[in-house]
Amino acid sequence: MIRHPDDVGGPLRELRERRAAARLGGGQVRIDKQHDAGKLTARERLDLLLDENSFHELGMFVTHRSSDFGLDKQRFLGDGVVTGYGTINGRLVYAYSQDFTVMGGSLGRAHADKIVALQDMALKNGAPIIGLNDSGGARIQEGVVSLGGYADIFLRNVQASGVVPQLSCIMGPCAGGAVYSPAITDFVIMVKDTSYMFVTGPEVVKTVTHEDVTFEELGGAGVHNRKSGVAHFAADSEGEAIAILRQLLSYLPQNNMVDAPLQPTQDDPLRQDAALDTIVPPAPELPYDMRDVIRRVVDDGAFLEVHATFAPNILVGFARMNGRTVGLVAQQPKILAGVLDNDASIKAARFVRFCDCFNVPLITFEDVPGFMPGTVQEHGGIIRNGAKLLYAYAEATVPKITVITRKAYGGAYDVMSSKHLRGDINYAWPTAEIAVMGPDGAVNIIFRRELAEAEDPVARKAELVADYRAKFANPYVAASWGYVDDIIEPRETRQRIISALEMLQNKRDTNPPKKHGNIPL
Ligand code: HXC
Repeated sequence: MIRHPDDVGGPLRELRERRAAARLGGGQVRIDKQHDAGKLTARERLDLLLDENSFHELGMFVTHRSSDFGLDKQRFLGDGVVTGYGTINGRLVYAYSQDFTVMGGSLGRAHADKIVALQDMALKNGAPIIGLNDSGGARIQEGVVSLGGYADIFLRNVQASGVVPQLSCIMGPCAGGAVYSPAITDFVIMVKDTSYMFVTGPEVVKTVTHEDVTFEELGGAGVHNRKSGVAHFAADSEGEAIAILRQLLSYLPQNNMVDAPLQPTQDDPLRQDAALDTIVPPAPELPYDMRDVIRRVVDDGAFLEVHATFAPNILVGFARMNGRTVGLVAQQPKILAGVLDNDASIKAARFVRFCDCFNVPLITFEDVPGFMPGTVQEHGGIIRNGAKLLYAYAEATVPKITVITRKAYGGAYDVMSSKHLRGDINYAWPTAEIAVMGPDGAVNIIFRRELAEAEDPVARKAELVADYRAKFANPYVAASWGYVDDIIEPRETRQRIISALEMLQNKRDTNPPKKHGNIPL
């Protein structure tokens, strides 16, 4: 008898039915609830994230083995997390996506084991791992084994750190100790209004500190992007969050042993930009937007800013120069005159270390009046935090190119990838002022007595400031010591950086053998 192709036999039918059940997660009612809350399901998110038809699911039939508190009656195929591998723009990635429709995406032993297996695979095969988080945290009914599961994940996060890129997208709740896995990963993206992260929720906060606070105020995307710095990107929607993930990944290498992919460009490496010659205003206290400088220099004006709303007085992010990924660190003179404060130091230090572990060359645009004075900064640990940035630059062995556009004052001159910290090529624009401090402060200190005794202190001070400016507020003294390699015309910046990057592409540099350093955390 010839069977109709749709009339499959028992075993095949069973497989298909089981697959269909797994795909339904916690069931249609809960899927509808998820949609009503403005959220996609775990599988819909993976469909958006990965190239079409590239996803291969692993562990679809895994279930938990617990029976306490009625869990024996709540056994769902896949145990609340979809795991597997696929491609993004043709490149291999591992991804897991927590399914809130299955017991709130809570993490029990089997759920954790699926993530752990994926982490092991990503580490062994040298490809990025992406977590889409939407979970009520430790599965309460499973008790300590779910805590063990988290710790197993944390350990692998740490082991994978600096080996493969790890990216986290928070698309729902992420509470309790669960926050520490994303916190260890390289980049965290949060979706506005539907995601939150905190160690203890509003109810516990109320009991312990008597503060009344909403989920959003305590740990929403706004707070973590602007205040705590836990998150690097805030997306308006899940679709936008996933678009950011894909874009970010395009700048990153697969692992620490290979280079980031080359992206050919039509943007001429020799392109000059005359507007750069006048971008620095004539008066030293006037601001300008360093983003304009960056966009005029990099390929096609494309700059993916990271941590855009946290410590906006410093800019960090990715771009390409003649097709190659670079990491940019730059003062933003438009905000707090580009001063280095606690948050700016921490933000930049972490970014420098990311670039260094993944062999991404660093370009630094410098216009820094120094470290921020005051008790808030001193008591907040500016010594310890500034030291982080200094440490990160000094330790980094990737190609390091610096362009001083205007101020490079005091300790901040040293810290910002100076030649003394193994900067490879350090350029200054003719507008650069490289000195221990600004002319006004310097004159106040070194001529205090003379000014106190002067007949006309205002006129005398103006004279002394002019003298100091002529002598030190320029790049030529630093150049005479070899502390800058050349003073370049701003319009040539793109070609000078590209040529330096090409010259440095086989750079080899190391640090002394050691177990690890002791960065002042
Ligand atoms: C088991 C859970 C769960 C959990 C949610 N659910 N969280 N099941 N363990 N941790 C289940 C709910 O019982 C419910 O099941 C379904 O998921 C959806 O939850 P709802 O409460 O209906 O959803 P919602 O109103 O959107 O609220 C989401 C929530 C809330 C805010 C996340 O569920 C919640 O507060 N959950 C507990 C969070 C928590 O305290 N987790 C432990 C954190 S401590 P049904 O069957 O009704 O659909 C922790 C320690 C980790 O995680 C330590 C690592 C080191």
